[in-house]
Amino acid sequence: MASPSVSSIHQAQLDVEPHFRLASVPDRLFGSFVEHLGRCVYTGIYEPGHPSADANGYRQDVMDLVRELGVSTIRYPGGNFVSGYRWRDGVGPRDRRPRRLDLAWHSTESNQFGLHEMAGWLKALGGNELMEAVNLGTQGTQEALDLLEYSNIPSGTALSDLRRRNGAEDPFNIRMWCLGNEMDGPWQLGHRDADGYARVAAMTAAAMRQMDPSVELVVCGSSSHDMPTFGEWERTVLERTYDQVDFVSCHAYYHPVGGDMGSFLASGVDMDAFIRDVISVIDATRASLKSDRQVNISFDEWNVWYQDAEPSRPPMGIGNWPQAPRLLEDVYSLADAVVFGDLLITLLKHADRVRSASLAQLVNVIAPIMTEPGGPAWRQTTFYPFASTARLARGGQVVESRMRGDSYDTARYGDVPDLDSVVVRQDDGSLSVFVVNRSQTRPYDLTLRLPMKSGAGYSRVEAQTLHDDDIQASNTLDQPDRVKPSPNPTARLEAAGSQASIHLPPVSWSAIHLS
Ligand code: AHR
Repeated sequence: MASPSVSSIHQAQLDVEPHFRLASVPDRLFGSFVEHLGRCVYTGIYEPGHPSADANGYRQDVMDLVRELGVSTIRYPGGNFVSGYRWRDGVGPRDRRPRRLDLAWHSTESNQFGLHEMAGWLKALGGNELMEAVNLGTQGTQEALDLLEYSNIPSGTALSDLRRRNGAEDPFNIRMWCLGNEMDGPWQLGHRDADGYARVAAMTAAAMRQMDPSVELVVCGSSSHDMPTFGEWERTVLERTYDQVDFVSCHAYYHPVGGDMGSFLASGVDMDAFIRDVISVIDATRASLKSDRQVNISFDEWNVWYQDAEPSRPPMGIGNWPQAPRLLEDVYSLADAVVFGDLLITLLKHADRVRSASLAQLVNVIAPIMTEPGGPAWRQTTFYPFASTARLARGGQVVESRMRGDSYDTARYGDVPDLDSVVVRQDDGSLSVFVVNRSQTRPYDLTLRLPMKSGAGYSRVEAQTLHDDDIQASNTLDQPDRVKPSPNPTARLEAAGSQASIHLPPVSWSAIHLS
Protein backbone atom coordinates (compact mmCIF):
# COMPACT_ATOMS: atom_id res chain seq x y z
CA MET A 1 0.00 0.00 0.00
CA ALA A 2 1.45 3.40 -1.00
CA SER A 3 1.86 5.78 1.91
CA PRO A 4 -0.01 9.11 1.67
CA SER A 5 2.18 11.87 0.26
CA VAL A 6 3.35 14.62 2.60
CA SER A 7 1.96 18.12 2.01
CA SER A 8 3.57 21.51 2.62
CA ILE A 9 4.12 22.66 6.20
CA HIS A 10 1.03 23.76 8.13
CA GLN A 11 0.94 26.22 11.00
CA ALA A 12 -0.61 25.65 14.44
CA GLN A 13 -0.66 27.60 17.66
CA LEU A 14 -0.88 26.47 21.27
CA ASP A 15 -1.91 29.14 23.78
CA VAL A 16 -0.78 28.11 27.25
CA GLU A 17 -2.07 29.57 30.51
CA PRO A 18 0.62 28.32 32.93
CA HIS A 19 -1.09 29.86 35.96
CA PHE A 20 -4.53 28.39 35.33
CA ARG A 21 -4.25 25.00 37.02
CA LEU A 22 -6.81 22.34 36.09
CA ALA A 23 -5.75 19.32 38.16
CA SER A 24 -2.85 17.77 39.98
CA VAL A 25 -1.28 14.84 38.15
CA PRO A 26 -1.92 11.76 40.32
CA ASP A 27 0.97 9.35 40.67
CA ARG A 28 -1.50 6.55 40.15
CA LEU A 29 -2.12 7.72 36.58
CA PHE A 30 1.14 5.97 35.71
CA GLY A 31 0.09 2.56 36.96
CA SER A 32 0.48 -0.67 35.04
CA PHE A 33 -0.89 -4.18 35.19
CA VAL A 34 0.61 -7.61 35.81
CA GLU A 35 -1.75 -10.48 35.01
CA HIS A 36 -1.09 -14.19 35.17
CA LEU A 37 -1.40 -14.33 31.41
CA GLY A 38 1.07 -15.70 28.89
CA ARG A 39 4.60 -14.65 29.86
CA CYS A 40 3.85 -11.51 31.85
CA VAL A 41 4.81 -13.16 35.15
CA TYR A 42 6.67 -16.34 34.15
CA THR A 43 9.76 -15.50 32.03
CA GLY A 44 8.61 -11.87 32.24
CA ILE A 45 9.18 -10.35 35.67
CA TYR A 46 9.98 -13.76 37.25
CA GLU A 47 12.43 -16.28 35.84
CA PRO A 48 14.51 -18.24 38.34
CA GLY A 49 17.70 -19.34 36.64
CA HIS A 50 17.84 -16.40 34.25
CA PRO A 51 21.36 -14.91 34.21
CA SER A 52 20.01 -11.61 35.60
CA ALA A 53 17.65 -13.12 38.20
CA ASP A 54 18.21 -12.47 41.90
CA ALA A 55 17.75 -15.08 44.65
CA ASN A 56 13.96 -14.58 44.44
CA GLY A 57 13.87 -15.22 40.71
CA TYR A 58 13.14 -11.56 39.87
CA ARG A 59 14.77 -10.64 36.55
CA GLN A 60 16.93 -7.59 37.24
CA ASP A 61 17.17 -6.63 33.56
CA VAL A 62 13.36 -6.35 33.55
CA MET A 63 13.28 -4.56 36.89
CA ASP A 64 15.74 -1.95 35.57
CA LEU A 65 13.52 -1.32 32.55
CA VAL A 66 10.39 -1.12 34.73
CA ARG A 67 12.14 1.52 36.85
CA GLU A 68 13.14 3.43 33.73
CA LEU A 69 9.53 3.22 32.52
CA GLY A 70 8.51 4.99 35.71
CA VAL A 71 5.35 3.06 36.59
CA SER A 72 3.63 3.63 39.93
CA THR A 73 0.82 1.30 41.07
CA ILE A 74 0.62 -2.27 39.78
CA ARG A 75 -2.78 -3.93 39.31
CA TYR A 76 -2.62 -7.68 40.01
CA PRO A 77 -3.35 -10.65 39.42
CA GLY A 78 -5.90 -10.04 36.61
CA GLY A 79 -7.72 -9.37 34.35
CA ASN A 80 -9.84 -12.25 33.17
CA PHE A 81 -7.52 -14.55 35.14
CA VAL A 82 -8.73 -13.25 38.50
CA SER A 83 -12.31 -14.36 37.88
CA GLY A 84 -11.27 -18.01 38.32
CA TYR A 85 -8.34 -17.49 40.70
CA ARG A 86 -8.06 -18.96 44.20
CA TRP A 87 -5.61 -16.69 46.00
CA ARG A 88 -4.79 -19.37 48.62
CA ASP A 89 -3.19 -21.48 45.85
CA GLY A 90 -0.50 -18.84 45.51
CA VAL A 91 0.62 -18.61 49.15
CA GLY A 92 2.58 -20.96 51.42
CA PRO A 93 5.41 -23.37 50.63
CA ARG A 94 5.98 -23.45 46.90
CA ASP A 95 6.34 -27.22 46.68
CA ARG A 96 2.80 -27.61 48.02
CA ARG A 97 1.14 -25.13 45.69
CA PRO A 98 -1.32 -26.78 43.29
CA ARG A 99 -1.17 -26.62 39.53
CA ARG A 100 -4.52 -25.39 38.21
CA LEU A 101 -6.28 -24.84 34.95
CA ASP A 102 -6.63 -21.19 34.04
CA LEU A 103 -9.88 -21.16 32.10
CA ALA A 104 -9.56 -17.54 30.99
CA TRP A 105 -6.41 -18.12 28.93
CA HIS A 106 -6.60 -21.91 28.49
CA SER A 107 -3.28 -22.34 30.26
CA THR A 108 -1.79 -24.13 33.29
CA GLU A 109 -1.08 -21.98 36.34
CA SER A 110 1.80 -23.35 38.42
CA ASN A 111 1.16 -20.93 41.31
CA GLN A 112 4.89 -20.58 41.85
CA PHE A 113 4.28 -16.85 41.92
CA GLY A 114 1.55 -15.40 44.15
CA LEU A 115 0.73 -12.54 46.50
CA HIS A 116 3.96 -12.74 48.56
CA GLU A 117 6.12 -12.84 45.44
CA MET A 118 4.24 -9.88 43.96
CA ALA A 119 4.56 -7.86 47.16
CA GLY A 120 8.27 -8.75 47.34
CA TRP A 121 8.80 -7.72 43.71
CA LEU A 122 7.14 -4.34 44.32
CA LYS A 123 9.25 -3.77 47.41
CA ALA A 124 12.41 -4.55 45.46
CA LEU A 125 11.22 -2.27 42.65
CA GLY A 126 11.08 0.68 45.04
CA GLY A 127 8.02 0.31 47.23
CA ASN A 128 5.44 0.70 44.46
CA GLU A 129 1.77 0.37 45.39
CA LEU A 130 -0.11 -2.89 44.86
CA MET A 131 -3.69 -2.68 43.54
CA GLU A 132 -5.28 -6.06 44.18
CA ALA A 133 -8.28 -7.50 42.36
CA VAL A 134 -10.66 -9.93 44.09
CA ASN A 135 -12.45 -12.77 42.34
CA LEU A 136 -16.15 -11.95 42.05
CA GLY A 137 -16.53 -14.40 39.17
CA THR A 138 -16.34 -17.87 40.68
CA GLN A 139 -16.03 -16.56 44.26
CA GLY A 140 -17.71 -13.90 46.36
CA THR A 141 -17.80 -11.79 49.51
CA GLN A 142 -16.29 -14.29 51.95
CA GLU A 143 -13.21 -15.00 49.82
CA ALA A 144 -12.69 -11.26 49.33
CA LEU A 145 -12.89 -10.77 53.11
CA ASP A 146 -10.46 -13.62 53.69
CA LEU A 147 -7.95 -12.10 51.30
CA LEU A 148 -8.35 -8.70 52.97
CA GLU A 149 -7.82 -10.24 56.42
CA TYR A 150 -4.77 -12.11 55.14
CA SER A 151 -3.36 -8.93 53.58
CA ASN A 152 -4.19 -6.10 55.96
CA ILE A 153 -4.87 -7.36 59.51
CA PRO A 154 -1.59 -7.11 61.48
CA SER A 155 -1.89 -10.34 63.51
CA GLY A 156 -3.92 -12.40 65.94
CA THR A 157 -6.44 -13.98 63.56
CA ALA A 158 -6.30 -17.24 61.64
CA LEU A 159 -5.52 -15.63 58.28
CA SER A 160 -3.25 -12.82 59.47
CA ASP A 161 -1.21 -15.37 61.41
CA LEU A 162 -1.12 -17.63 58.37
CA ARG A 163 0.42 -14.74 56.42
CA ARG A 164 3.03 -14.30 59.15
CA ARG A 165 3.82 -18.03 59.11
CA ASN A 166 4.18 -17.72 55.34
CA GLY A 167 6.96 -15.20 55.82
CA ALA A 168 5.30 -11.77 55.89
CA GLU A 169 5.40 -10.49 59.46
CA ASP A 170 4.02 -7.10 58.45
CA PRO A 171 0.67 -6.74 56.71
CA PHE A 172 0.73 -5.87 53.01
CA ASN A 173 -1.54 -2.87 53.73
CA ILE A 174 -3.22 -2.93 50.34
CA ARG A 175 -5.31 0.24 49.85
CA MET A 176 -6.79 -0.18 46.36
CA TRP A 177 -9.03 -3.13 45.55
CA CYS A 178 -10.88 -3.98 42.35
CA LEU A 179 -14.28 -5.58 42.92
CA GLY A 180 -13.83 -8.19 40.20
CA ASN A 181 -12.89 -7.66 36.58
CA GLU A 182 -14.96 -6.84 33.47
CA MET A 183 -18.07 -8.38 34.96
CA ASP A 184 -20.13 -6.86 32.12
CA GLY A 185 -18.35 -9.08 29.57
CA PRO A 186 -20.01 -12.34 28.48
CA TRP A 187 -16.48 -13.84 28.21
CA GLN A 188 -15.90 -13.33 31.93
CA LEU A 189 -16.15 -16.31 34.29
CA GLY A 190 -19.16 -15.55 36.47
CA HIS A 191 -20.41 -12.76 34.16
CA ARG A 192 -23.66 -11.25 35.44
CA ASP A 193 -26.14 -8.65 34.36
CA ALA A 194 -25.72 -5.18 35.85
CA ASP A 195 -28.20 -5.76 38.63
CA GLY A 196 -26.69 -9.14 39.63
CA TYR A 197 -23.18 -7.69 39.71
CA ALA A 198 -24.28 -4.52 41.52
CA ARG A 199 -25.76 -6.61 44.36
CA VAL A 200 -22.63 -8.68 44.91
CA ALA A 201 -20.33 -5.66 44.51
CA ALA A 202 -22.34 -3.59 47.01
CA MET A 203 -22.38 -6.43 49.54
CA THR A 204 -18.65 -7.10 49.14
CA ALA A 205 -17.74 -3.41 49.30
CA ALA A 206 -19.72 -2.87 52.51
CA ALA A 207 -18.18 -5.95 54.11
CA MET A 208 -14.63 -5.01 53.10
CA ARG A 209 -15.11 -1.50 54.53
CA GLN A 210 -16.41 -3.01 57.75
CA MET A 211 -13.12 -4.88 58.12
CA ASP A 212 -10.84 -2.07 56.88
CA PRO A 213 -12.46 1.36 56.42
CA SER A 214 -9.31 2.71 54.77
CA VAL A 215 -9.65 0.62 51.60
CA GLU A 216 -10.32 2.36 48.28
CA LEU A 217 -12.65 0.34 46.10
CA VAL A 218 -13.00 0.16 42.33
CA VAL A 219 -16.32 -1.10 41.01
CA CYS A 220 -16.44 -2.57 37.49
CA GLY A 221 -17.60 -0.22 34.78
CA SER A 222 -17.66 -1.24 31.14
CA SER A 223 -15.09 -3.31 29.27
CA SER A 224 -15.22 -0.79 26.43
CA HIS A 225 -17.12 2.26 25.24
CA ASP A 226 -18.72 -0.02 22.58
CA MET A 227 -20.30 -2.52 24.96
CA PRO A 228 -24.03 -2.83 24.23
CA THR A 229 -24.73 -2.34 27.93
CA PHE A 230 -22.47 0.74 28.24
CA GLY A 231 -24.11 3.58 30.17
CA GLU A 232 -26.96 1.55 31.57
CA TRP A 233 -24.40 -0.75 33.23
CA GLU A 234 -22.68 2.18 34.97
CA ARG A 235 -26.02 3.68 36.02
CA THR A 236 -27.31 0.46 37.57
CA VAL A 237 -24.03 -0.45 39.26
CA LEU A 238 -23.41 3.02 40.66
CA GLU A 239 -26.95 3.40 41.95
CA ARG A 240 -26.40 0.41 44.24
CA THR A 241 -22.74 0.96 45.14
CA TYR A 242 -22.22 4.74 45.05
CA ASP A 243 -21.67 5.32 48.75
CA GLN A 244 -19.34 2.33 49.11
CA VAL A 245 -16.92 2.86 46.21
CA ASP A 246 -14.25 5.38 45.24
CA PHE A 247 -13.75 4.58 41.59
CA VAL A 248 -15.58 3.10 38.64
CA SER A 249 -13.34 1.36 36.11
CA CYS A 250 -13.01 1.98 32.37
CA HIS A 251 -11.19 -0.35 29.97
CA ALA A 252 -10.28 0.51 26.38
CA TYR A 253 -8.10 -1.10 23.72
CA TYR A 254 -7.58 0.26 20.21
CA HIS A 255 -6.30 -1.14 16.91
CA PRO A 256 -6.74 -0.22 13.25
CA VAL A 257 -9.98 -1.73 11.96
CA GLY A 258 -9.93 -2.77 8.28
CA GLY A 259 -6.70 -0.85 7.71
CA ASP A 260 -8.34 2.49 8.64
CA MET A 261 -5.23 4.25 9.89
CA GLY A 262 -6.87 7.69 10.04
CA SER A 263 -9.48 6.55 12.57
CA PHE A 264 -6.90 4.53 14.50
CA LEU A 265 -4.65 7.56 14.88
CA ALA A 266 -7.68 9.39 16.35
CA SER A 267 -8.33 6.74 19.05
CA GLY A 268 -7.82 9.41 21.72
CA VAL A 269 -11.07 10.97 20.57
CA ASP A 270 -12.95 7.84 21.60
CA MET A 271 -11.15 7.60 24.94
CA ASP A 272 -12.00 11.25 25.58
CA ALA A 273 -15.70 10.68 24.81
CA PHE A 274 -15.72 7.51 26.94
CA ILE A 275 -14.34 9.41 29.94
CA ARG A 276 -16.80 12.28 29.47
CA ASP A 277 -19.72 9.85 29.24
CA VAL A 278 -18.70 8.01 32.42
CA ILE A 279 -18.25 11.29 34.31
CA SER A 280 -21.80 12.24 33.25
CA VAL A 281 -23.23 9.00 34.65
CA ILE A 282 -21.25 9.31 37.90
CA ASP A 283 -22.40 12.87 38.42
CA ALA A 284 -26.02 12.17 37.49
CA THR A 285 -26.03 9.32 40.01
CA ARG A 286 -24.50 11.56 42.64
CA ALA A 287 -27.19 14.17 42.02
CA SER A 288 -30.06 11.71 42.15
CA LEU A 289 -28.72 10.15 45.38
CA LYS A 290 -28.03 13.62 46.82
CA SER A 291 -24.62 12.30 47.84
CA ASP A 292 -21.63 14.40 48.88
CA ARG A 293 -19.24 11.74 47.77
CA GLN A 294 -17.16 12.12 44.62
CA VAL A 295 -16.56 8.91 42.71
CA ASN A 296 -13.71 9.07 40.19
CA ILE A 297 -12.48 6.92 37.32
CA SER A 298 -9.85 4.20 37.47
CA PHE A 299 -8.91 3.65 33.80
CA ASP A 300 -7.39 0.37 34.81
CA GLU A 301 -6.84 -1.19 31.39
CA TRP A 302 -5.78 0.87 28.38
CA ASN A 303 -3.51 0.26 25.42
CA VAL A 304 -3.24 -0.59 21.75
CA TRP A 305 -4.15 -4.27 21.33
CA TYR A 306 -4.51 -6.24 18.09
CA GLN A 307 -7.21 -8.27 19.76
CA ASP A 308 -8.26 -10.33 16.73
CA ALA A 309 -4.75 -11.19 15.54
CA GLU A 310 -2.96 -14.53 15.84
CA PRO A 311 -0.89 -13.71 18.98
CA SER A 312 -4.13 -13.27 20.94
CA ARG A 313 -5.65 -16.68 20.12
CA PRO A 314 -5.56 -18.77 23.31
CA PRO A 315 -4.53 -22.44 23.04
CA MET A 316 -7.31 -24.95 22.35
CA GLY A 317 -8.03 -28.60 23.11
CA ILE A 318 -8.91 -30.63 26.19
CA GLY A 319 -5.34 -31.93 26.52
CA ASN A 320 -3.56 -28.68 25.67
CA TRP A 321 -3.09 -26.33 28.64
CA PRO A 322 0.45 -24.96 28.24
CA GLN A 323 2.28 -23.16 31.00
CA ALA A 324 3.12 -19.51 30.28
CA PRO A 325 2.57 -19.74 26.51
CA ARG A 326 3.40 -16.85 24.19
CA LEU A 327 0.10 -14.95 24.23
CA LEU A 328 -0.86 -11.38 23.29
CA GLU A 329 2.77 -10.65 22.35
CA ASP A 330 1.93 -7.75 20.07
CA VAL A 331 4.89 -6.02 18.41
CA TYR A 332 4.21 -2.28 18.43
CA SER A 333 4.90 0.04 15.52
CA LEU A 334 5.71 3.73 15.46
CA ALA A 335 2.04 4.45 14.63
CA ASP A 336 0.97 2.40 17.65
CA ALA A 337 3.30 4.45 19.86
CA VAL A 338 1.82 7.72 18.57
CA VAL A 339 -1.70 6.50 19.38
CA PHE A 340 -0.43 5.30 22.76
CA GLY A 341 1.13 8.71 23.47
CA ASP A 342 -2.18 10.33 22.59
CA LEU A 343 -4.05 8.03 24.99
CA LEU A 344 -1.70 9.23 27.74
CA ILE A 345 -2.36 12.84 26.73
CA THR A 346 -6.10 12.12 26.98
CA LEU A 347 -5.75 10.60 30.45
CA LEU A 348 -3.74 13.62 31.61
CA LYS A 349 -6.35 16.03 30.22
CA HIS A 350 -8.88 14.32 32.47
CA ALA A 351 -6.61 14.13 35.52
CA ASP A 352 -9.27 15.88 37.61
CA ARG A 353 -11.50 12.79 37.39
CA VAL A 354 -9.25 9.98 36.13
CA ARG A 355 -7.33 9.60 39.36
CA SER A 356 -5.90 6.19 38.60
CA ALA A 357 -4.95 4.29 35.44
CA SER A 358 -3.15 1.07 34.55
CA LEU A 359 -1.35 0.48 31.31
CA ALA A 360 -2.29 -3.07 30.31
CA GLN A 361 0.12 -4.74 30.60
CA LEU A 362 3.73 -4.48 31.79
CA VAL A 363 5.89 -7.24 30.28
CA ASN A 364 5.46 -9.43 27.16
CA VAL A 365 1.64 -9.29 27.14
CA ILE A 366 0.62 -6.21 25.06
CA ALA A 367 3.53 -4.63 26.83
CA PRO A 368 6.13 -1.87 26.61
CA ILE A 369 8.82 -4.35 27.71
CA MET A 370 9.61 -7.64 25.95
CA THR A 371 11.83 -10.50 27.04
CA GLU A 372 13.26 -13.75 25.75
CA PRO A 373 13.39 -16.66 28.20
CA GLY A 374 17.05 -16.94 29.18
CA GLY A 375 17.77 -14.00 26.88
CA PRO A 376 17.58 -10.22 26.74
CA ALA A 377 14.84 -7.69 27.53
CA TRP A 378 14.10 -4.68 25.32
CA ARG A 379 11.87 -1.63 24.92
CA GLN A 380 8.93 -1.58 22.52
CA THR A 381 8.04 1.68 20.72
CA THR A 382 5.33 2.38 23.32
CA PHE A 383 7.91 2.36 26.11
CA TYR A 384 9.13 5.83 25.16
CA PRO A 385 5.99 7.99 25.40
CA PHE A 386 5.16 6.36 28.73
CA ALA A 387 8.63 6.81 30.22
CA SER A 388 8.95 10.46 29.14
CA THR A 389 5.42 11.40 30.19
CA ALA A 390 5.83 9.74 33.59
CA ARG A 391 9.20 11.42 34.13
CA LEU A 392 8.08 14.91 33.13
CA ALA A 393 4.46 14.98 34.34
CA ARG A 394 4.56 13.25 37.73
CA GLY A 395 4.14 15.66 40.59
CA GLY A 396 2.91 18.45 38.31
CA GLN A 397 -0.33 20.25 37.55
CA VAL A 398 -2.22 20.10 34.29
CA VAL A 399 -2.72 23.70 33.13
CA GLU A 400 -5.08 25.32 30.66
CA SER A 401 -4.08 25.39 26.99
CA ARG A 402 -5.83 25.83 23.65
CA MET A 403 -4.67 24.36 20.33
CA ARG A 404 -5.46 25.87 16.95
CA GLY A 405 -4.64 23.75 13.90
CA ASP A 406 -6.32 21.91 11.03
CA SER A 407 -8.40 18.78 11.19
CA TYR A 408 -9.02 15.69 9.07
CA ASP A 409 -12.00 13.53 8.36
CA THR A 410 -12.23 10.00 9.79
CA ALA A 411 -14.68 7.21 9.00
CA ARG A 412 -15.18 6.48 12.70
CA TYR A 413 -15.09 9.80 14.53
CA GLY A 414 -15.87 12.39 11.83
CA ASP A 415 -13.70 15.50 11.82
CA VAL A 416 -10.79 15.28 14.28
CA PRO A 417 -8.00 17.77 15.09
CA ASP A 418 -4.61 16.94 13.56
CA LEU A 419 -2.84 17.88 16.79
CA ASP A 420 -3.64 16.90 20.35
CA SER A 421 -1.71 18.11 23.38
CA VAL A 422 -1.62 18.66 27.11
CA VAL A 423 0.57 20.93 29.25
CA VAL A 424 1.90 20.14 32.73
CA ARG A 425 3.54 22.68 35.03
CA GLN A 426 5.90 21.79 37.86
CA ASP A 427 6.30 23.84 41.06
CA ASP A 428 9.61 25.26 39.79
CA GLY A 429 7.64 26.85 36.94
CA SER A 430 8.93 24.52 34.23
CA LEU A 431 6.44 23.36 31.62
CA SER A 432 6.16 20.10 29.74
CA VAL A 433 4.08 20.01 26.58
CA PHE A 434 3.10 16.60 25.19
CA VAL A 435 1.83 16.73 21.63
CA VAL A 436 0.91 14.29 18.86
CA ASN A 437 0.55 15.00 15.19
CA ARG A 438 -2.10 12.52 14.05
CA SER A 439 -2.04 13.65 10.44
CA GLN A 440 -0.47 11.23 7.95
CA THR A 441 0.20 13.98 5.44
CA ARG A 442 0.63 17.34 7.19
CA PRO A 443 3.86 18.36 8.90
CA TYR A 444 3.38 21.27 11.31
CA ASP A 445 5.27 24.23 12.62
CA LEU A 446 3.77 24.69 16.07
CA THR A 447 4.08 27.97 17.95
CA LEU A 448 3.69 27.86 21.73
CA ARG A 449 2.53 31.14 23.22
CA LEU A 450 3.52 31.44 26.86
CA PRO A 451 2.29 34.55 28.67
CA MET A 452 4.94 35.81 31.08
CA LYS A 453 4.66 37.15 34.58
CA SER A 454 6.67 40.37 35.11
CA GLY A 455 8.89 39.89 32.10
CA ALA A 456 10.44 36.55 33.15
CA GLY A 457 10.48 34.37 30.06
CA TYR A 458 11.64 30.79 29.61
CA SER A 459 15.35 30.46 29.04
CA ARG A 460 15.70 26.89 27.90
CA VAL A 461 13.78 24.52 25.63
CA GLU A 462 14.49 20.86 24.97
CA ALA A 463 12.36 18.52 22.91
CA GLN A 464 12.25 14.89 21.92
CA THR A 465 10.26 13.53 19.00
CA LEU A 466 9.25 9.96 18.23
CA HIS A 467 8.88 9.58 14.47
CA ASP A 468 9.97 7.30 11.66
CA ASP A 469 9.45 7.61 7.90
CA ASP A 470 8.08 4.05 8.08
CA ILE A 471 5.09 4.25 10.42
CA GLN A 472 5.11 0.45 10.72
CA ALA A 473 8.71 0.35 12.00
CA SER A 474 9.08 -1.52 15.31
CA ASN A 475 11.64 -2.82 17.80
CA THR A 476 12.39 -6.55 17.85
CA LEU A 477 14.82 -8.99 19.41
CA ASP A 478 17.11 -8.53 16.40
CA GLN A 479 16.66 -4.76 16.16
CA PRO A 480 15.76 -3.62 19.68
CA ASP A 481 16.65 0.04 19.04
CA ARG A 482 15.15 0.54 15.58
CA VAL A 483 12.61 3.12 16.89
CA LYS A 484 13.35 5.56 19.66
CA PRO A 485 12.87 9.28 20.26
CA SER A 486 15.51 11.73 19.09
CA PRO A 487 16.24 15.25 20.27
CA ASN A 488 14.20 17.62 18.07
CA PRO A 489 16.68 20.29 16.90
CA THR A 490 13.91 22.56 15.55
CA ALA A 491 12.67 23.49 19.06
CA ARG A 492 13.65 27.07 19.85
CA LEU A 493 12.70 29.99 22.06
CA GLU A 494 11.45 33.22 20.54
CA ALA A 495 10.23 36.65 21.64
CA ALA A 496 12.39 36.84 24.78
CA GLY A 497 11.26 33.44 25.97
CA SER A 498 7.53 34.23 25.78
CA GLN A 499 7.16 32.03 22.73
CA ALA A 500 8.62 28.79 21.41
CA SER A 501 8.32 26.91 18.16
CA ILE A 502 8.91 23.38 16.96
CA HIS A 503 8.48 21.32 13.81
CA LEU A 504 6.23 18.26 14.15
CA PRO A 505 6.45 15.63 11.39
CA PRO A 506 3.31 13.70 10.38
CA VAL A 507 2.48 10.76 12.68
CA SER A 508 4.71 11.80 15.54
CA TRP A 509 4.74 12.19 19.31
CA SER A 510 6.80 14.89 21.01
CA ALA A 511 7.62 16.06 24.52
CA ILE A 512 8.78 19.67 24.86
CA HIS A 513 10.29 20.87 28.11
CA LEU A 514 10.59 24.58 28.91
CA SER A 515 12.43 25.81 31.96
O1 AHR B 1 -5.35 -7.25 29.32
C1 AHR B 1 -5.84 -8.38 28.65
C2 AHR B 1 -7.28 -8.68 29.03
O2 AHR B 1 -8.10 -7.66 28.54
C3 AHR B 1 -7.62 -8.74 30.49
O3 AHR B 1 -7.38 -9.97 31.07
C4 AHR B 1 -9.08 -8.45 30.51
O4 AHR B 1 -9.49 -7.82 31.69
C5 AHR B 1 -9.30 -7.60 29.27
O5 AHR B 1 -10.32 -8.06 28.49
